[in-house]
Amino acid sequence: MPPIKLHDKHFEIYLSEAEIQQKVKEIADKINNDYQDLNPLFISILNGSFMFAADLFKHLTIDSEICFIKLASYKGMKSSGHIITAIGLDQDLYNRNVIIIEDIVDTGKTLDVFLPKLHHQQPASLKIAALLHKPEATEKQITIDYLGFSIPNKFVVGYGLDYDGLGRNLKEIYQLTDEA
Ligand code: XMP
Ligand code: MG
Repeated sequence: MPPIKLHDKHFEIYLSEAEIQQKVKEIADKINNDYQDLNPLFISILNGSFMFAADLFKHLTIDSEICFIKLASYKGMKSSGHIITAIGLDQDLYNRNVIIIEDIVDTGKTLDVFLPKLHHQQPASLKIAALLHKPEATEKQITIDYLGFSIPNKFVVGYGLDYDGLGRNLKEIYQLTDEA
């Protein structure tokens, strides 16, 4: 695939459509195997995870439910303080087997703040499926139970991920080039 330009930035192909689809299928197979008769509830975190969630869900053969939420983050008064509210989380998680669907875990800060809020509702289990992980960017250690790809600490777009609104429609994942 040729390089692309979104706004002012150049990106080059990093993961092909076939590589992504193969990996999504593998994750779905594992979940089909691990969650038989458990009717898992998937919580897809918008916007970035919509494409991963849709493709993953299509491969599931077990009873399962899905809902979509948005995380709004407000900077607190303290410089370190991030408060996150979940918009659209109207499901009762009590005693449910919950799987979070994330596009990418970068610093880990988002899930570090959000997971305790979910644990508070006492789900039977709480696991994370993330398509991408940037281990070098880790600030808060998050256990990813179902991981697609570990990637270098470079900005990526495509397959739901955007650069300033653009690029979500791409079937592949592209990486920012060093080129100005
Ligand atoms: P943290 O750092 O809290 O970040 O783990 C998670 C969220 O940040 C966004 N993010 C990205 N979005 N390309 C994107 O388009 C990237 O390379 C990238 N890195 C982090 C994303 O929304 C993720 O859920
Ligand atoms: Mg996201």
